[in-house]
Amino acid sequence: MWDSPTLLRAGCRCRLSLVMLEAPSLLLVAGGVGLALLALRWLATTDLQFFGWAFIGWNEFIMKPIRNLLMGSSKEQRILQHVLQHAVAGDPQSVVAAIDSYSLEKEWAMHVGEKKGQIVDRVLREQQPSVLLELGAYCGYSAVRMARLLLPGARLLTIEFNPDYAAITQRMVEFAGLQDKVTVVLGASQDIIPQLKMKYDVDTLDMVFLDHWKDRYLPDMLLLEECGLLREGTVLLADNVIYPGAPDFLEYVRGNNRFECSHFSSYLEYSKVVDGLEKVVYKGLSGPARP
Ligand SMILES: C[S@@+](CC[C@H](N)C(=O)[O-])C[C@H]1O[C@@H](n2cnc3c(N)ncnc32)[C@H](O)[C@@H]1O
Repeated sequence: MWDSPTLLRAGCRCRLSLVMLEAPSLLLVAGGVGLALLALRWLATTDLQFFGWAFIGWNEFIMKPIRNLLMGSSKEQRILQHVLQHAVAGDPQSVVAAIDSYSLEKEWAMHVGEKKGQIVDRVLREQQPSVLLELGAYCGYSAVRMARLLLPGARLLTIEFNPDYAAITQRMVEFAGLQDKVTVVLGASQDIIPQLKMKYDVDTLDMVFLDHWKDRYLPDMLLLEECGLLREGTVLLADNVIYPGAPDFLEYVRGNNRFECSHFSSYLEYSKVVDGLEKVVYKGLSGPARP
């Protein structure tokens, strides 16, 4: 018979040897995870196009969930909070600047950003649209950016299917003092587009900013055409055609005489990853024949 102290000593020795056996493998796993994270962090900060996925992966799938957990709020709520604290109510330029500084210095986010934003500004100033449609609002950065340049009487409809993002966009637009120019429409683009004429009093669109999920660019552009919302001269401006990329959309518009295309090379928002905007002018169903 073993007495209790002997059993206790034997139990302790057993646990100790188990810990000693497990410790190296635990250390190895922790070291491996640490190295993988460091590698991802390094890839994310390189300017190589190939590693664009690492840049987004690091920010969206590692840093964002960790911050959300630690701070008890979503990134989009933090962006809105930053704007409410640092921008001036009724001053759209200060809203744009506050979102840009937060996304550059604190947390990367998928707004079109300052560099590509300047290209959007230029195209918008040239077109001076009376009716402008945006597909994909997110936090309302591009909506505020574009609406601040609209002429009196012109309007922007922005479609967003995520209710949290649509609510943040609405708040952002109101804070910027642009609520009379901007209508935030909650829903999926493919459901809202067929309702634009009847429910939102749109005849035809002067300009469309495509910035939602990239696999929807082509089907939604064809849907806009099918619904009679494009007129000769409607300008479609598509973001992220290089990164993450919209290859089916690019191939279609560049190879079709209903469209006249030009490309603006730039960088993915708040990064060194190469990206670009495609400006597509709709020539109508009877566009000029290609030589
Ligand atoms: C890149 S973000 C838009 C960024 C915004 N245009 C800006 O520059 O500030 C894309 C947004 O599109 C929304 N989205 C994606 N597919 C959509 C769809 N089919 N209909 C409506 N919204 C969509 C996403 O929820 C996301 O908020």
